Amino acid sequence: MEKSRFLLFRMLSMIRCLCYIYMMIMANYLTAGALAIAHTNFSTDQSALLALKAHITSDPQNILTANWSSASNSDICNWVGVTCGARHHRVTALNLSSMGLAGVIPPHLGNLSFLIKLHLKNNFFNGPLPQELSRLRRLKAINFQYNNFTGTIPSWFGSFPKLQTFILWGNGFSGFIPAAIFNLSALEKIDLSNNQLSGSIPREIGNLTMVKVIYLDDNKFEELPNEIGSLGQLEVLFVQDNALKGSAFVPVLNISSLTTFTLYGNNMSGSLPDNMCEHLSSIRRLYLDQNQLDGMIPSKLWQCKELREISLASNNFRGSIPKSLGNLTYLSKIILSDNNLEGNKRGSILQSFRF
Ligand SMILES: *[C@@H]1O[C@H](CO)[C@@H](O)[C@H](O)[C@H]1NC(C)=O
Ligand SMILES: *[C@@H]1O[C@H](CO)[C@@H](O)[C@H](O)[C@H]1NC(C)=O
Ligand SMILES: *[C@@H]1O[C@H](CO)[C@@H](O)[C@H](O)[C@H]1NC(C)=O
Ligand SMILES: *[C@@H]1O[C@H](CO)[C@@H](O)[C@H](O)[C@H]1NC(C)=O
Ligand SMILES: *[C@@H]1O[C@H](CO)[C@@H](O)[C@H](O)[C@H]1NC(C)=O
Ligand SMILES: *[C@@H]1O[C@H](CO)[C@@H](O)[C@H](O)[C@H]1NC(C)=O
Ligand SMILES: *[C@@H]1O[C@H](CO)[C@@H](O)[C@H](O)[C@H]1NC(C)=O
Ligand SMILES: *[C@@H]1O[C@H](CO)[C@@H](O)[C@H](O)[C@H]1NC(C)=O
Ligand SMILES: *[C@@H]1O[C@H](CO)[C@@H](O)[C@H](O)[C@H]1NC(C)=O
Repeated sequence: MEKSRFLLFRMLSMIRCLCYIYMMIMANYLTAGALAIAHTNFSTDQSALLALKAHITSDPQNILTANWSSASNSDICNWVGVTCGARHHRVTALNLSSMGLAGVIPPHLGNLSFLIKLHLKNNFFNGPLPQELSRLRRLKAINFQYNNFTGTIPSWFGSFPKLQTFILWGNGFSGFIPAAIFNLSALEKIDLSNNQLSGSIPREIGNLTMVKVIYLDDNKFEELPNEIGSLGQLEVLFVQDNALKGSAFVPVLNISSLTTFTLYGNNMSGSLPDNMCEHLSSIRRLYLDQNQLDGMIPSKLWQCKELREISLASNNFRGSIPKSLGNLTYLSKIILSDNNLEGNKRGSILQSFRF
Protein backbone atom coordinates (compact mmCIF):
# COMPACT_ATOMS: atom_id res chain seq x y z
CA MET A 1 0.00 0.00 0.00
CA GLU A 2 2.63 2.47 1.18
CA LYS A 3 5.00 1.33 -1.55
CA SER A 4 2.59 1.62 -4.41
CA ARG A 5 1.80 5.15 -3.27
CA PHE A 6 5.50 5.91 -3.24
CA LEU A 7 5.92 4.51 -6.77
CA LEU A 8 2.97 6.50 -7.99
CA PHE A 9 4.47 9.61 -6.47
CA ARG A 10 7.81 8.95 -8.20
CA MET A 11 6.07 8.41 -11.50
CA LEU A 12 4.06 11.56 -11.20
CA SER A 13 7.04 13.68 -10.30
CA MET A 14 8.99 12.25 -13.23
CA ILE A 15 6.19 13.13 -15.61
CA ARG A 16 5.97 16.55 -14.05
CA CYS A 17 9.69 16.98 -14.44
CA LEU A 18 9.64 15.98 -18.10
CA CYS A 19 6.75 18.31 -18.69
CA TYR A 20 8.63 21.11 -17.02
CA ILE A 21 11.73 20.56 -19.21
CA TYR A 22 9.53 20.43 -22.29
CA MET A 23 7.80 23.65 -21.23
CA MET A 24 11.11 25.38 -20.63
CA ILE A 25 12.26 24.47 -24.13
CA MET A 26 8.97 25.61 -25.64
CA ALA A 27 8.96 28.80 -23.60
CA ASN A 28 12.44 29.74 -24.75
CA TYR A 29 11.49 29.00 -28.30
CA LEU A 30 8.26 31.01 -28.07
CA THR A 31 9.79 33.95 -26.23
CA ALA A 32 12.50 34.27 -28.85
CA GLY A 33 9.85 34.32 -31.57
CA ALA A 34 7.60 36.76 -29.72
CA LEU A 35 10.51 39.07 -29.02
CA ALA A 36 11.48 39.10 -32.68
CA ILE A 37 7.91 40.10 -33.62
CA ALA A 38 7.62 42.68 -30.84
CA HIS A 39 10.98 44.15 -31.84
CA THR A 40 9.94 44.56 -35.46
CA ASN A 41 6.72 46.31 -34.48
CA PHE A 42 8.47 48.39 -31.86
CA SER A 43 10.79 49.67 -34.60
CA THR A 44 7.77 50.41 -36.78
CA ASP A 45 6.32 52.55 -34.00
CA GLN A 46 9.67 54.24 -33.44
CA SER A 47 10.12 55.10 -37.10
CA ALA A 48 6.55 56.40 -37.29
CA LEU A 49 7.21 58.74 -34.35
CA LEU A 50 10.59 59.80 -35.73
CA ALA A 51 8.91 60.55 -39.08
CA LEU A 52 6.45 62.77 -37.22
CA LYS A 53 9.33 64.50 -35.43
CA ALA A 54 11.07 65.05 -38.78
CA HIS A 55 7.95 66.80 -40.12
CA ILE A 56 7.76 69.26 -37.20
CA THR A 57 8.82 72.68 -38.46
CA SER A 58 8.46 74.50 -35.17
CA ASP A 59 8.90 73.17 -31.60
CA PRO A 60 9.23 76.38 -29.59
CA GLN A 61 9.59 74.65 -26.21
CA ASN A 62 12.07 72.10 -27.60
CA ILE A 63 9.88 69.32 -26.27
CA LEU A 64 10.21 66.70 -29.01
CA THR A 65 13.61 67.99 -30.09
CA ALA A 66 15.06 67.29 -26.65
CA ASN A 67 13.05 64.26 -25.64
CA TRP A 68 12.34 62.10 -28.69
CA SER A 69 15.80 60.57 -29.12
CA SER A 70 16.62 58.83 -32.41
CA ALA A 71 19.08 56.49 -30.67
CA SER A 72 18.04 52.95 -31.57
CA ASN A 73 18.02 51.83 -27.91
CA SER A 74 15.84 54.72 -26.76
CA ASP A 75 12.58 53.42 -25.28
CA ILE A 76 9.79 55.25 -27.12
CA CYS A 77 7.43 54.34 -24.29
CA ASN A 78 9.28 56.89 -22.12
CA TRP A 79 9.00 59.64 -24.69
CA VAL A 80 6.96 62.65 -23.75
CA GLY A 81 3.34 62.34 -24.93
CA VAL A 82 3.67 58.63 -25.73
CA THR A 83 1.78 55.88 -23.89
CA CYS A 84 2.35 52.18 -24.58
CA GLY A 85 0.29 49.11 -23.82
CA ALA A 86 1.65 47.24 -20.78
CA ARG A 87 1.60 43.82 -22.40
CA HIS A 88 2.71 44.31 -25.99
CA HIS A 89 4.74 47.52 -25.60
CA ARG A 90 3.12 49.18 -28.61
CA VAL A 91 2.06 52.83 -28.76
CA THR A 92 -1.58 53.11 -27.65
CA ALA A 93 -1.87 56.86 -27.10
CA LEU A 94 -0.20 59.92 -28.54
CA ASN A 95 -0.92 63.16 -26.70
CA LEU A 96 0.95 66.20 -28.02
CA SER A 97 -1.62 68.71 -26.76
CA SER A 98 -0.62 72.36 -26.22
CA MET A 99 3.05 72.07 -27.21
CA GLY A 100 2.96 74.88 -29.79
CA LEU A 101 4.03 72.47 -32.54
CA ALA A 102 3.75 73.32 -36.25
CA GLY A 103 4.19 71.00 -39.21
CA VAL A 104 2.34 68.43 -41.26
CA ILE A 105 1.25 64.92 -40.30
CA PRO A 106 3.31 62.33 -42.23
CA PRO A 107 1.65 59.18 -43.64
CA HIS A 108 3.90 57.09 -41.35
CA LEU A 109 1.61 57.88 -38.43
CA GLY A 110 -0.80 55.38 -40.01
CA ASN A 111 1.68 52.65 -38.99
CA LEU A 112 0.91 53.06 -35.26
CA SER A 113 -1.53 50.22 -35.60
CA PHE A 114 -2.25 49.87 -31.87
CA LEU A 115 -3.13 53.54 -31.43
CA ILE A 116 -6.35 54.18 -29.46
CA LYS A 117 -6.05 57.92 -28.73
CA LEU A 118 -4.65 60.66 -30.94
CA HIS A 119 -4.66 64.06 -29.23
CA LEU A 120 -2.99 66.92 -31.09
CA LYS A 121 -5.10 69.81 -29.75
CA ASN A 122 -3.84 73.39 -29.37
CA ASN A 123 -0.98 73.27 -31.86
CA PHE A 124 -0.36 74.66 -35.36
CA PHE A 125 -0.46 71.45 -37.38
CA ASN A 126 -1.51 72.19 -40.96
CA GLY A 127 -1.59 70.78 -44.45
CA PRO A 128 -3.56 67.82 -45.76
CA LEU A 129 -4.31 64.87 -43.50
CA PRO A 130 -2.79 61.67 -44.97
CA GLN A 131 -5.27 58.93 -45.88
CA GLU A 132 -2.92 56.41 -44.21
CA LEU A 133 -4.43 57.52 -40.88
CA SER A 134 -7.52 55.53 -41.87
CA ARG A 135 -5.49 52.37 -41.16
CA LEU A 136 -5.70 53.10 -37.42
CA ARG A 137 -8.59 50.68 -36.89
CA ARG A 138 -8.38 50.73 -33.10
CA LEU A 139 -8.81 54.51 -32.71
CA LYS A 140 -11.41 55.54 -30.15
CA ALA A 141 -10.53 59.23 -29.89
CA ILE A 142 -9.31 61.86 -32.36
CA ASN A 143 -8.83 65.38 -31.04
CA PHE A 144 -7.43 67.94 -33.53
CA GLN A 145 -9.06 70.92 -31.78
CA TYR A 146 -7.39 74.29 -32.46
CA ASN A 147 -4.91 73.56 -35.19
CA ASN A 148 -4.47 75.00 -38.67
CA PHE A 149 -5.92 72.19 -40.75
CA THR A 150 -7.74 73.38 -43.87
CA GLY A 151 -9.53 71.94 -46.91
CA THR A 152 -12.49 69.58 -46.91
CA ILE A 153 -12.97 66.96 -44.20
CA PRO A 154 -11.69 63.71 -45.77
CA SER A 155 -14.40 61.08 -46.19
CA TRP A 156 -12.09 58.35 -44.87
CA PHE A 157 -12.82 59.70 -41.38
CA GLY A 158 -15.86 57.41 -41.69
CA SER A 159 -13.69 54.31 -41.55
CA PHE A 160 -12.97 54.06 -37.81
CA PRO A 161 -15.28 51.34 -36.48
CA LYS A 162 -14.50 52.08 -32.81
CA LEU A 163 -14.28 55.87 -32.85
CA GLN A 164 -16.20 57.41 -29.93
CA THR A 165 -14.83 60.96 -29.85
CA PHE A 166 -14.15 63.02 -32.98
CA ILE A 167 -13.10 66.64 -32.50
CA LEU A 168 -12.05 69.04 -35.28
CA TRP A 169 -13.18 72.20 -33.43
CA GLY A 170 -11.42 75.44 -34.37
CA ASN A 171 -9.62 74.65 -37.61
CA GLY A 172 -10.11 75.98 -41.14
CA PHE A 173 -12.05 73.06 -42.61
CA SER A 174 -14.38 74.20 -45.40
CA GLY A 175 -16.85 72.81 -47.94
CA PHE A 176 -19.52 70.20 -47.30
CA ILE A 177 -19.42 67.50 -44.63
CA PRO A 178 -18.96 64.19 -46.47
CA ALA A 179 -21.92 61.92 -45.64
CA ALA A 180 -19.45 59.03 -45.26
CA ILE A 181 -18.20 60.33 -41.89
CA PHE A 182 -21.57 59.41 -40.39
CA ASN A 183 -20.61 55.78 -40.96
CA LEU A 184 -19.02 56.01 -37.48
CA SER A 185 -21.36 53.64 -35.70
CA ALA A 186 -19.69 53.87 -32.25
CA LEU A 187 -19.52 57.68 -32.18
CA GLU A 188 -20.66 59.38 -28.97
CA LYS A 189 -19.29 62.89 -29.41
CA ILE A 190 -18.68 64.89 -32.59
CA ASP A 191 -17.40 68.47 -32.56
CA LEU A 192 -16.92 70.26 -35.89
CA SER A 193 -17.64 73.75 -34.51
CA ASN A 194 -15.72 76.91 -35.46
CA ASN A 195 -14.77 75.93 -38.99
CA GLN A 196 -15.92 77.21 -42.39
CA LEU A 197 -18.22 74.30 -43.22
CA SER A 198 -21.22 74.99 -45.43
CA GLY A 199 -24.17 73.43 -47.25
CA SER A 200 -26.60 70.94 -45.80
CA ILE A 201 -25.79 68.84 -42.80
CA PRO A 202 -26.11 65.38 -44.39
CA ARG A 203 -29.21 63.39 -43.43
CA GLU A 204 -26.90 60.42 -42.71
CA ILE A 205 -26.22 62.14 -39.36
CA GLY A 206 -29.36 60.21 -38.34
CA ASN A 207 -27.21 57.02 -38.53
CA LEU A 208 -25.22 58.01 -35.44
CA THR A 209 -27.36 55.92 -33.13
CA MET A 210 -24.93 56.14 -30.18
CA VAL A 211 -24.28 59.88 -30.35
CA LYS A 212 -24.82 61.94 -27.19
CA VAL A 213 -23.10 65.24 -28.03
CA ILE A 214 -23.09 67.17 -31.33
CA TYR A 215 -21.38 70.55 -31.79
CA LEU A 216 -21.78 72.03 -35.28
CA ASP A 217 -21.99 75.71 -34.24
CA ASP A 218 -20.11 78.63 -35.80
CA ASN A 219 -20.02 77.37 -39.35
CA LYS A 220 -22.02 78.33 -42.45
CA PHE A 221 -24.49 75.46 -42.58
CA GLU A 222 -27.77 76.20 -44.35
CA GLU A 223 -29.83 73.12 -43.70
CA LEU A 224 -30.55 70.87 -40.75
CA PRO A 225 -32.01 67.48 -41.76
CA ASN A 226 -35.19 66.11 -40.16
CA GLU A 227 -33.26 62.89 -39.45
CA ILE A 228 -31.50 64.61 -36.55
CA GLY A 229 -34.78 64.10 -34.65
CA SER A 230 -34.26 60.34 -34.72
CA LEU A 231 -31.12 60.44 -32.54
CA GLY A 232 -32.59 58.76 -29.49
CA GLN A 233 -29.48 59.13 -27.24
CA LEU A 234 -28.77 62.79 -28.01
CA GLU A 235 -28.19 65.00 -24.95
CA VAL A 236 -26.47 68.11 -26.31
CA LEU A 237 -26.98 69.81 -29.69
CA PHE A 238 -25.18 73.06 -30.56
CA VAL A 239 -26.02 74.47 -34.01
CA GLN A 240 -25.99 78.20 -33.20
CA ASP A 241 -24.40 80.86 -35.40
CA ASN A 242 -24.90 79.20 -38.77
CA ALA A 243 -27.20 80.20 -41.62
CA LEU A 244 -29.80 77.49 -41.02
CA LYS A 245 -33.25 77.95 -42.52
CA GLY A 246 -36.39 75.84 -42.62
CA SER A 247 -38.10 74.32 -39.62
CA ALA A 248 -36.18 71.10 -39.03
CA PHE A 249 -35.65 72.13 -35.40
CA VAL A 250 -39.18 70.81 -34.70
CA PRO A 251 -38.17 67.10 -34.86
CA VAL A 252 -35.32 67.91 -32.43
CA LEU A 253 -37.97 68.97 -29.89
CA ASN A 254 -39.03 65.32 -29.83
CA ILE A 255 -35.83 63.91 -28.31
CA SER A 256 -36.58 62.95 -24.73
CA SER A 257 -32.88 62.61 -23.76
CA LEU A 258 -32.02 66.16 -24.91
CA THR A 259 -30.80 68.46 -22.10
CA THR A 260 -29.23 71.34 -24.06
CA PHE A 261 -30.23 72.77 -27.43
CA THR A 262 -28.74 75.99 -28.79
CA LEU A 263 -30.05 77.26 -32.12
CA TYR A 264 -29.55 81.02 -31.79
CA GLY A 265 -28.24 83.19 -34.63
CA ASN A 266 -29.83 81.32 -37.53
CA ASN A 267 -32.74 81.95 -39.87
CA MET A 268 -35.08 79.20 -38.82
CA SER A 269 -38.83 79.61 -39.12
CA GLY A 270 -41.86 77.79 -37.78
CA SER A 271 -43.41 77.56 -34.35
CA LEU A 272 -43.15 75.55 -31.17
CA PRO A 273 -45.64 72.66 -30.78
CA ASP A 274 -47.87 73.38 -27.77
CA ASN A 275 -47.28 69.87 -26.41
CA MET A 276 -43.52 69.79 -27.04
CA CYS A 277 -42.70 69.20 -23.36
CA GLU A 278 -44.50 65.85 -23.46
CA HIS A 279 -41.50 64.60 -25.48
CA LEU A 280 -38.77 67.05 -24.46
CA SER A 281 -38.84 65.94 -20.84
CA SER A 282 -35.11 66.36 -19.99
CA ILE A 283 -34.49 69.83 -21.43
CA ARG A 284 -32.55 72.21 -19.18
CA ARG A 285 -31.19 74.86 -21.54
CA LEU A 286 -33.10 75.96 -24.61
CA TYR A 287 -31.68 78.83 -26.67
CA LEU A 288 -33.79 79.62 -29.72
CA ASP A 289 -33.11 83.38 -29.88
CA GLN A 290 -32.28 85.37 -33.03
CA ASN A 291 -34.29 83.37 -35.55
CA GLN A 292 -37.57 83.94 -37.40
CA LEU A 293 -39.73 81.79 -35.14
CA ASP A 294 -43.37 82.73 -34.66
CA GLY A 295 -46.57 81.49 -33.05
CA MET A 296 -47.33 81.39 -29.34
CA ILE A 297 -45.13 80.41 -26.43
CA PRO A 298 -46.38 76.88 -25.58
CA SER A 299 -48.99 77.15 -22.83
CA LYS A 300 -47.76 73.82 -21.45
CA LEU A 301 -44.13 74.90 -21.13
CA TRP A 302 -44.46 74.24 -17.37
CA GLN A 303 -44.35 70.52 -18.28
CA CYS A 304 -40.62 70.90 -19.10
CA LYS A 305 -39.92 70.42 -15.40
CA GLU A 306 -36.12 70.41 -15.70
CA LEU A 307 -35.93 73.74 -17.50
CA ARG A 308 -33.22 76.12 -16.14
CA GLU A 309 -32.62 78.57 -18.96
CA ILE A 310 -34.71 79.58 -21.92
CA SER A 311 -34.28 82.31 -24.48
CA LEU A 312 -36.78 83.03 -27.21
CA ALA A 313 -35.56 86.62 -27.74
CA SER A 314 -35.43 88.32 -31.15
CA ASN A 315 -38.05 86.22 -32.90
CA ASN A 316 -41.66 86.88 -33.91
CA PHE A 317 -43.46 85.20 -31.02
CA ARG A 318 -46.85 86.71 -30.20
CA GLY A 319 -49.62 86.26 -27.66
CA SER A 320 -49.17 86.31 -23.93
CA ILE A 321 -46.57 84.89 -21.62
CA PRO A 322 -48.09 81.83 -19.90
CA LYS A 323 -48.45 82.49 -16.14
CA SER A 324 -47.77 78.79 -15.44
CA LEU A 325 -44.08 79.42 -16.19
CA GLY A 326 -44.02 80.53 -12.58
CA ASN A 327 -44.22 76.95 -11.36
CA LEU A 328 -41.03 75.80 -13.10
CA THR A 329 -38.97 75.08 -9.97
CA TYR A 330 -35.46 75.30 -11.47
CA LEU A 331 -36.00 78.15 -13.92
CA SER A 332 -33.29 80.79 -13.36
CA LYS A 333 -33.10 82.60 -16.70
CA ILE A 334 -35.81 83.56 -19.14
CA ILE A 335 -35.24 85.99 -22.01
CA LEU A 336 -38.20 86.95 -24.18
CA SER A 337 -37.25 90.45 -25.36
CA ASP A 338 -37.68 91.66 -28.92
CA ASN A 339 -40.81 89.71 -29.85
CA ASN A 340 -44.45 90.73 -30.34
CA LEU A 341 -45.61 89.53 -26.94
CA GLU A 342 -48.55 91.24 -25.23
CA GLY A 343 -47.69 93.47 -22.31
CA ASN A 344 -43.98 92.98 -22.95
CA LYS A 345 -43.33 96.58 -23.88
CA ARG A 346 -40.39 97.08 -21.56
CA GLY A 347 -40.02 93.56 -20.24
CA SER A 348 -42.06 94.76 -17.24
CA ILE A 349 -44.42 91.79 -17.44
CA LEU A 350 -41.71 89.55 -16.03
CA GLN A 351 -41.77 91.45 -12.75
CA SER A 352 -45.03 89.70 -11.90
CA PHE A 353 -43.27 86.32 -11.88
CA ARG A 354 -41.24 84.99 -9.00
CA PHE A 355 -37.94 84.34 -10.82
C1 LIG B 1 11.64 62.36 -21.83
O1 LIG B 1 10.58 62.76 -20.95
C2 LIG B 1 10.23 61.75 -20.03
C3 LIG B 1 8.99 62.22 -19.29
O2 LIG B 1 9.08 63.56 -18.94
C4 LIG B 1 11.40 61.48 -19.12
O3 LIG B 1 11.06 60.46 -18.20
C5 LIG B 1 12.58 61.01 -19.97
O4 LIG B 1 13.71 60.83 -19.17
C6 LIG B 1 12.89 62.04 -21.03
N1 LIG B 1 13.90 61.51 -21.91
C7 LIG B 1 14.88 62.24 -22.40
C8 LIG B 1 15.86 61.55 -23.29
O5 LIG B 1 14.99 63.43 -22.13
C1 LIG C 1 -2.72 65.39 -22.70
O1 LIG C 1 -1.61 65.99 -22.07
C2 LIG C 1 -1.92 67.19 -21.39
C3 LIG C 1 -0.62 67.83 -20.92
O2 LIG C 1 0.21 66.89 -20.35
C4 LIG C 1 -2.86 66.86 -20.24
O3 LIG C 1 -3.20 68.02 -19.55
C5 LIG C 1 -4.12 66.24 -20.82
O4 LIG C 1 -4.98 65.84 -19.79
C6 LIG C 1 -3.79 65.03 -21.69
N1 LIG C 1 -4.99 64.61 -22.38
C7 LIG C 1 -5.37 63.35 -22.44
C8 LIG C 1 -6.64 63.08 -23.15
O5 LIG C 1 -4.73 62.44 -21.94
C1 LIG D 1 5.17 53.01 -42.57
O1 LIG D 1 4.47 53.95 -43.38
C2 LIG D 1 5.23 54.52 -44.43
C3 LIG D 1 4.32 55.52 -45.16
O2 LIG D 1 2.97 55.21 -45.14
C4 LIG D 1 5.83 53.46 -45.29
O3 LIG D 1 6.60 54.04 -46.32
C5 LIG D 1 6.64 52.52 -44.45
O4 LIG D 1 7.22 51.51 -45.23
C6 LIG D 1 5.77 51.92 -43.38
N1 LIG D 1 6.39 50.83 -42.62
C7 LIG D 1 7.36 50.89 -41.70
C8 LIG D 1 7.78 49.59 -41.13
O5 LIG D 1 7.87 51.93 -41.32
C1 LIG E 1 -2.56 79.33 -38.01
O1 LIG E 1 -3.79 79.93 -38.30
C2 LIG E 1 -3.94 81.19 -37.68
C3 LIG E 1 -5.36 81.64 -37.89
O2 LIG E 1 -5.86 81.28 -39.14
C4 LIG E 1 -2.93 82.13 -38.29
O3 LIG E 1 -3.03 83.41 -37.69
C5 LIG E 1 -1.53 81.59 -38.03
O4 LIG E 1 -0.58 82.37 -38.70
C6 LIG E 1 -1.40 80.16 -38.50
N1 LIG E 1 -0.15 79.67 -37.98
C7 LIG E 1 0.60 78.77 -38.61
C8 LIG E 1 1.87 78.39 -37.91
O5 LIG E 1 0.28 78.27 -39.67
C1 LIG F 1 -18.11 51.96 -42.84
O1 LIG F 1 -17.78 51.22 -41.68
C2 LIG F 1 -17.56 49.86 -41.94
C3 LIG F 1 -17.36 49.18 -40.60
O2 LIG F 1 -16.45 49.88 -39.81
C4 LIG F 1 -16.36 49.71 -42.86
O3 LIG F 1 -16.16 48.37 -43.16
C5 LIG F 1 -16.60 50.51 -44.15
O4 LIG F 1 -15.45 50.49 -44.94
C6 LIG F 1 -16.96 51.93 -43.82
N1 LIG F 1 -17.34 52.64 -45.03
C7 LIG F 1 -16.84 53.82 -45.36
C8 LIG F 1 -17.39 54.43 -46.61
O5 LIG F 1 -16.00 54.39 -44.70
C1 LIG G 1 -26.85 55.02 -43.07
O1 LIG G 1 -27.77 53.98 -42.79
C2 LIG G 1 -28.41 53.47 -43.95
C3 LIG G 1 -29.48 52.50 -43.51
O2 LIG G 1 -28.99 51.63 -42.54
C4 LIG G 1 -27.35 52.82 -44.85
O3 LIG G 1 -27.96 52.33 -46.02
C5 LIG G 1 -26.32 53.86 -45.22
O4 LIG G 1 -25.28 53.28 -45.94
C6 LIG G 1 -25.75 54.51 -43.96
N1 LIG G 1 -24.88 55.60 -44.36
C7 LIG G 1 -23.74 55.87 -43.75
C8 LIG G 1 -22.95 57.01 -44.28
O5 LIG G 1 -23.37 55.25 -42.79
C1 LIG H 1 -31.24 85.49 -42.72
O1 LIG H 1 -31.84 85.74 -43.98
C2 LIG H 1 -31.73 87.10 -44.38
C3 LIG H 1 -32.56 87.28 -45.64
O2 LIG H 1 -32.33 86.19 -46.50
C4 LIG H 1 -30.27 87.44 -44.56
O3 LIG H 1 -30.13 88.79 -44.93
C5 LIG H 1 -29.53 87.19 -43.25
O4 LIG H 1 -28.15 87.40 -43.43
C6 LIG H 1 -29.76 85.80 -42.76
N1 LIG H 1 -29.16 85.64 -41.44
C7 LIG H 1 -28.45 84.60 -41.06
C8 LIG H 1 -27.95 84.59 -39.66
O5 LIG H 1 -28.21 83.69 -41.84
C1 LIG I 1 -42.65 63.22 -32.24
O1 LIG I 1 -42.88 61.96 -31.64
C2 LIG I 1 -44.22 61.56 -31.64
C3 LIG I 1 -44.35 60.30 -30.83
O2 LIG I 1 -43.24 59.49 -30.90
C4 LIG I 1 -44.66 61.38 -33.09
O3 LIG I 1 -46.01 61.02 -33.14
C5 LIG I 1 -44.47 62.69 -33.86
O4 LIG I 1 -44.75 62.52 -35.21
C6 LIG I 1 -43.04 63.19 -33.71
N1 LIG I 1 -42.94 64.50 -34.29
C7 LIG I 1 -41.94 64.90 -35.07
C8 LIG I 1 -42.00 66.29 -35.56
O5 LIG I 1 -41.01 64.16 -35.34
C1 LIG J 1 -48.31 74.39 -13.03
O1 LIG J 1 -49.25 75.19 -13.70
C2 LIG J 1 -50.25 74.48 -14.46
C3 LIG J 1 -51.09 75.48 -15.23
O2 LIG J 1 -51.47 76.53 -14.42
C4 LIG J 1 -51.05 73.61 -13.53
O3 LIG J 1 -52.00 72.88 -14.27
C5 LIG J 1 -50.13 72.67 -12.83
O4 LIG J 1 -50.83 71.88 -11.89
C6 LIG J 1 -49.02 73.43 -12.10
N1 LIG J 1 -48.10 72.47 -11.57
C7 LIG J 1 -47.60 72.55 -10.35
C8 LIG J 1 -46.63 71.46 -9.96
O5 LIG J 1 -47.90 73.45 -9.60
